[in-house]
Amino acid sequence: MYARAAAATTAALLGAGALVLPSATASAAPAPKASAPSAAASIASKHGRPLVVAHRGASGYAPENTLAAIDKAADMGFRWVENDVQRTKDGELVIMHDDTLKRTTDVEEVFPDRAPWKVADFTAAEIAKLDAGSWFDPKYAGQRVPTLKQYMNRVERNHQSLVFEFKKPELYPGIEKQGLQVLRRTGWLDKHHVKRKLVIQSFSADSVKTVHALRPDIKTGFLGTPKAAELPAYAEFSDQINSSHTTISDDYVSAIHALKGPHGKPLEIFTWTVNDAPATKRVAGFGVDGIITNVPDVVRSALREG
Ligand code: G3P
Ligand code: CA
Repeated sequence: MYARAAAATTAALLGAGALVLPSATASAAPAPKASAPSAAASIASKHGRPLVVAHRGASGYAPENTLAAIDKAADMGFRWVENDVQRTKDGELVIMHDDTLKRTTDVEEVFPDRAPWKVADFTAAEIAKLDAGSWFDPKYAGQRVPTLKQYMNRVERNHQSLVFEFKKPELYPGIEKQGLQVLRRTGWLDKHHVKRKLVIQSFSADSVKTVHALRPDIKTGFLGTPKAAELPAYAEFSDQINSSHTTISDDYVSAIHALKGPHGKPLEIFTWTVNDAPATKRVAGFGVDGIITNVPDVVRSALREG
């Protein structure tokens, strides 16, 4: 499967901006609709109200990186979600944060002889058998590890937007091209989605550069806190510098905003993982553009308090 995916030419991806594919939204189930960001958010911010992004979905309330977690975010009224994308042994892209299946599934019970249970050592069919919900709460028993295709279809159905992370891309050569191919096939690389609904980020600068080279129209983010003097080099290929909230200051956020990204707009910062009111108020005071959080309702309330 991966060999086929990797065979897609770079030219095809580069040309995909002109293609408008039908969105894959086939689902009879009623779609929870994420509401627009609240106009009540009023905390002082130099660059307007920060966008609230549900980290791995609403992962404080539902098992991370499952369809239940993005549904929960939608039910709570959050339009933006974040995920982590990795690859199985047989080349399927799946949504998983750790590079092993141990923490967030029952893999040790189902496959006791397969330690260390790496994502890359299991086929998609094997992973599809795992329970990815019970570890979090028995009421989520039966949640599965979504494939990227399943995940994109659900985000679309929910009218949500996505901060898409290539997780540990150094383990998965060619994953950027393959991921873009899935996004294209699920309708996420048409003009509307690219302009308004998608950011692709990674801790790997090489991965972000690759995405930017393949599809220069896509908004990108580098995860980390480069020295201020190094920021101009990142701004060549990345629209965002997405730093841990524990590493940033007012001056650092100002240094980011003073630069322009590859699309000629001010460089942005989405900071993570902010899970309480004091931290929310601190980073909002710096003027961050986005706040990535496991508990989006807590962040929303803190922003409303100002
Ligand atoms: O989106 C930011 C955040 O997800 C990066 O850290 O380890 O949670 O993927 P991690
Ligand atoms: Ca992530």
